[in-house]
Amino acid sequence: MAKILSTKFYDRMKKLEPRYPTKVALLLPALHAAQEEIGWLPPDVMEEIGAHIGIHPAQVREVASFYTMYNLKPVGKYHLKVCTNVACALRGAEGLVEHCEKKLGIRLGETTADRKFTLYEEECLGACGTAPAMMLNDDYHENLTTQKMDQILEKLS
Ligand code: FES
Repeated sequence: MAKILSTKFYDRMKKLEPRYPTKVALLLPALHAAQEEIGWLPPDVMEEIGAHIGIHPAQVREVASFYTMYNLKPVGKYHLKVCTNVACALRGAEGLVEHCEKKLGIRLGETTADRKFTLYEEECLGACGTAPAMMLNDDYHENLTTQKMDQILEKLS
C-alpha cells in the first residue's frame, strides 16, 4: 500500500512514541496529526494509521467516529462548530446556527459549494461561562451574537 501520510507525520510519531506506554496509545495523536495534514480522515488514511500502530482499520474507525473532533468527511477551509449544548442553547445558540445557515446558504453538516465553510453543531466546548461558543478550526469564539458572527464571517470572506 502506497503511503499517503508524509515523512513529517512519521517523524512526529517517532518523536511521540517514547512518551506513550504502547504504540496503540498513539492512536489519538496519530489521528490528530493526520487530520492536521490532510484536513480529514479518509478510509485509506485510517488504514495507514492502523498499519503503523498495529491495529485493525475497523478499530481506528471506531475511535475516530466516537470523537466529534475528527472529520470523517472533507470539510471546508473554515470549519465552524457551534456548541448547541445546554448553556449555549439557553443563550441563543439555535438562533446563531440558523443565522449561519442563512448567511452561508447551507444546513448543519454541510459545506459551501466553494468548499470555504463547513457548519457543524458541537457538544459542550467547555466554555459554558462564556456561552454561546463555537470553534472556528482550532480557535474559540465566545459570547457570540449574530453581529459578532457576521464580523467573523466577513473577515473570512
Ligand atoms: S454548553 Fe456550550 S460551551 Fe458548554
